[in-house]
Amino acid sequence: MRSDAAYLITGGLGALGLTAARLLAMEGAGTLVLIGRGAPRPEHEPALAELRELGATVVTAQVDVSDDDQLGAHLERYGTELPPLRGVLHAAGVLADRMIDDLTWEDVEIVMRPKLLAGWQLHRRTAHLDLDLFLLFGSVAGVLGNPGQAGYAAANCGLDALAHLRRRSGLAAQSIDWGPWAQIGLAAGPDRDDRLADRGLAAMTPQEGAEALAAELAGDAVQVMVGPFDATAWSRFTGPPAASSLLREITQERAVARPSGTTAFDRTDLLAAGATERRDMLTAFVRRQVGRIARAEPDKIRLADRVTVLGVDSLMAMELRQIFETEVGASMPTVRLLRGPTIAEVAEYLLEQLPELAPATAAAAVRATVTESVAEPGDGLGDLLGELDLMSGSELEALFDELTAEESELTAEERSDS
Ligand SMILES: NC(=O)c1ccc[n+]([C@@H]2O[C@H](COP(=O)([O-])OP(=O)(O)OC[C@H]3O[C@@H](n4cnc5c(N)ncnc54)[C@H](OP(=O)(O)O)[C@@H]3O)[C@@H](O)[C@H]2O)c1
Repeated sequence: MRSDAAYLITGGLGALGLTAARLLAMEGAGTLVLIGRGAPRPEHEPALAELRELGATVVTAQVDVSDDDQLGAHLERYGTELPPLRGVLHAAGVLADRMIDDLTWEDVEIVMRPKLLAGWQLHRRTAHLDLDLFLLFGSVAGVLGNPGQAGYAAANCGLDALAHLRRRSGLAAQSIDWGPWAQIGLAAGPDRDDRLADRGLAAMTPQEGAEALAAELAGDAVQVMVGPFDATAWSRFTGPPAASSLLREITQERAVARPSGTTAFDRTDLLAAGATERRDMLTAFVRRQVGRIARAEPDKIRLADRVTVLGVDSLMAMELRQIFETEVGASMPTVRLLRGPTIAEVAEYLLEQLPELAPATAAAAVRATVTESVAEPGDGLGDLLGELDLMSGSELEALFDELTAEESELTAEERSDS
């Protein structure tokens, strides 16, 4: 780092921004410009004092980076009132998690603007400068996706693309796709940490994060994902990682390496068991999974407890549905889980959905819907009927929802026509 240059850190008073500022100060950066929408608060003072003790000149500025005019006015200060700009670290960001069914464009903009739009404007407005450093703070969400974070995932993915675009143009560029940090920052919180860890994304300590940041700053990777990652746990949570050939390879290797009997649930035993034992096995499994996800002691969960009363929310319901599909081979729609069935009712429902045991399987239900109410001679649905048996539980569920929705639309139209 140069003692005669300025380094701009967006989100500079945030957890990762301040961590980066400390590293830069330790490396001899002369002027650190920390920008955010808000002014420094008293709790920031010790960290700012430490930066000064390390020898840096610290400047704070209130700039909304998603406002291009404000950003442009701020950038005019370099080379005049401030030393020349030699590094940009873009760590501004917000979360606005929302499940995709409820997502509006406004929600997407809330997270896209300070991350991707600001990243782009920073690039556009500094592309003519000789920067040594242009570091973008991305997220694993941009690489893996994450339920409730469609906009955030897209914004981070865009930052990765920006890093590649810059590097290809011969400009300084790095993008770090962070896994969750524990204790500090926008992803911190004991519940959130535990839930992400269950999904295979354990949190880093601030010390581990700072060390990784130092290593990446010294390195040359244009895009790197940083943090502990258990691909098998992640795939169990998200379902077959069909979209990612990389994950598929990793998880298949692990599956081969995994000793038999260590799976969370033995489906073969379930199918071989007698009716009473089968119900008990499934009930115990549902209780364990709800307990794990809702952070409740399985032994204290009663069969009559409603999953929503135990704390199951929409994200958790999605996770449960996925686990049921992957481990039991039977699906329970998220909306049905959110209606608050008891543990016993969930187990009973799953039993009914087991394709090997239930004569009226999901495929049969869809088949009946297609043939009875939708199919017309020569409309190609014969092909669809042939494909039903090859579809997964979730594909069938989606198709069933689609058909029943179409059916109710038709009925509503008929009603309004008559
Ligand atoms: N912490 C993690 O575990 C983690 C994991 C993956 C990725 N990341 C990424 O790392 C970056 C930093 O995260 P963090 O944990 O340090 O979050 P943080 O502590 O909440 O800091 C984010 C900072 O961004 C600033 N900011 C937000 N919108 C802004 C805007 N429009 N203009 C200027 N400043 C703005 C905020 O300050 P004001 O509110 O005052 O504007 C805040 O200080 C984020 O981009 C995040 O997506 C973090």
